[in-house]
Amino acid sequence: MYDVIVIGSGPGGYVAAIRCAQLGLKTACVEGRETLGGTCLNIGCIPSKALLHASHQLHEAEHNFARMGLKGKSPSVDWDQMKAYKDDVIGQNTKGIEFLFKKNKIDWLKGWGSIPEAGKVKVGDDVHETKNILIATGSEPSSLPGIEIDEKIVVTSTGALDLPKIPKKLVVIGAGVIGLELGSVYARLGSEVQVIEFMETITPGMDGEVQKTFQRILKKQGLDFTLGAAVQSVETLKTKAKVTYKLRKDDSEATIDADVVLVATGRKPFTDGLGLDALGIKMSQRGQIETDNQWRTNVDGIYAIGDAIAGPMLAHKAEDEGMACAEVIAGKHGHVNYGVIPSVIYTHPEVASVGQTEEQLKEAGRAYKAGKFSFMGNGRAKANFAADGFVKILADKETDRILGAHIIGPMAGDLIHEICVAMEFGASAEDLALTCHAHPTYSEAVREAALACGDGPIHM
Ligand code: NAI
Repeated sequence: MYDVIVIGSGPGGYVAAIRCAQLGLKTACVEGRETLGGTCLNIGCIPSKALLHASHQLHEAEHNFARMGLKGKSPSVDWDQMKAYKDDVIGQNTKGIEFLFKKNKIDWLKGWGSIPEAGKVKVGDDVHETKNILIATGSEPSSLPGIEIDEKIVVTSTGALDLPKIPKKLVVIGAGVIGLELGSVYARLGSEVQVIEFMETITPGMDGEVQKTFQRILKKQGLDFTLGAAVQSVETLKTKAKVTYKLRKDDSEATIDADVVLVATGRKPFTDGLGLDALGIKMSQRGQIETDNQWRTNVDGIYAIGDAIAGPMLAHKAEDEGMACAEVIAGKHGHVNYGVIPSVIYTHPEVASVGQTEEQLKEAGRAYKAGKFSFMGNGRAKANFAADGFVKILADKETDRILGAHIIGPMAGDLIHEICVAMEFGASAEDLALTCHAHPTYSEAVREAALACGDGPIHM
């Protein structure tokens, strides 16, 4: 008899399992994949970051080395070796989770799990008894109606991470996180990349000023954008595809050829085969498992976290829910502050945000001030050819309390956390501005943006 069986070993599930074990609960985790770590480690965050890193090195060699006096032939791309490097990174990370499971005495139940009834989890022919079940089965790509994914010519992020060769022409459907990260990788590796987006802006929902700057920078890097366009069909020929889209403003249609089409139009919860219908677990119209604010489903002893429930589909959101839910199962208190969940796009430059956007504050009628500082005024960024972009901090007009921050620039994905911590402590922009920041660092731009919420920055 287990105390907890976690179904799914992605960042939500494996973190929850480790925390449960740390809290003294007898824990098992069900995973049907050959390796632990879920989408994030196997076919998502980690492999894409490896390819982003490798292709960025190439970009640096091609564009910046000579300017720094590093002369010589730019490296050529050995795609198979790059993929081998990526696979090695995946292996190191997934084996790391296996090690952590052993260290914490968590049983890995190998196979795909289902829940015949509360208190029981079936894996293969074995039925395991448990006091609690935690569903952390994540999500899968959601395609468009009528578009058939073959993971060869018409691919999701899964196929895009493992293409047999670098495509000459890549059409990306969807200017969201996946489309822009993987679009960047292939643009740097020499593909002609055309991104087709349904909305009038890239990365819908993001701060408007960041969207504009981000699109301008990506355009300079060779990505071509067709905005306000609804994809009608993707026809697969032998080695190519034809993508037909309609411009929403005038209904005009166009067809473009592609060697590979990446469908990056979002993801949907993955709960197939669990038997949730028969259990009577309440689901939302969008296929998400419904939970209360302690991650309990409507069936006693069954909890759910991560991409399978409502909220942003982010590994770190799932991890936080996993830790908090483990505490709840152990009879303690678990809490996730959904108002302070950062989001990061790992392009170059990186884009990061937390809290509210200006658009949201305006809509809510909240009086706010915006302090902005360009990386042009940051010595370190200038030295590193990374001065494109800015930090913007939004603070309450009266109290100066930080309400949100939006960064496009070098290491934005790391810089944002200073602001997350400040927000968790209810800090004001002045608190950040009064904190000594080492020179020369990119983080000085955060301080300057905080100063811009008050009397003004120094270096602008
Ligand atoms: P997304 O929701 O970020 O972007 C999808 C885009 O496709 C949107 O811009 C949407 O307007 C567009 N779209 C939808 N239908 C369309 C159509 N018919 N024609 C043209 N465009 C259309 O989804 P994405 O990029 O697929 O990522 C899936 C999930 O994975 C997201 O929740 C994302 O946050 C997460 N993710 C996070 C990463 C990170 O944190 N760095 C990296 C990769 C994925």
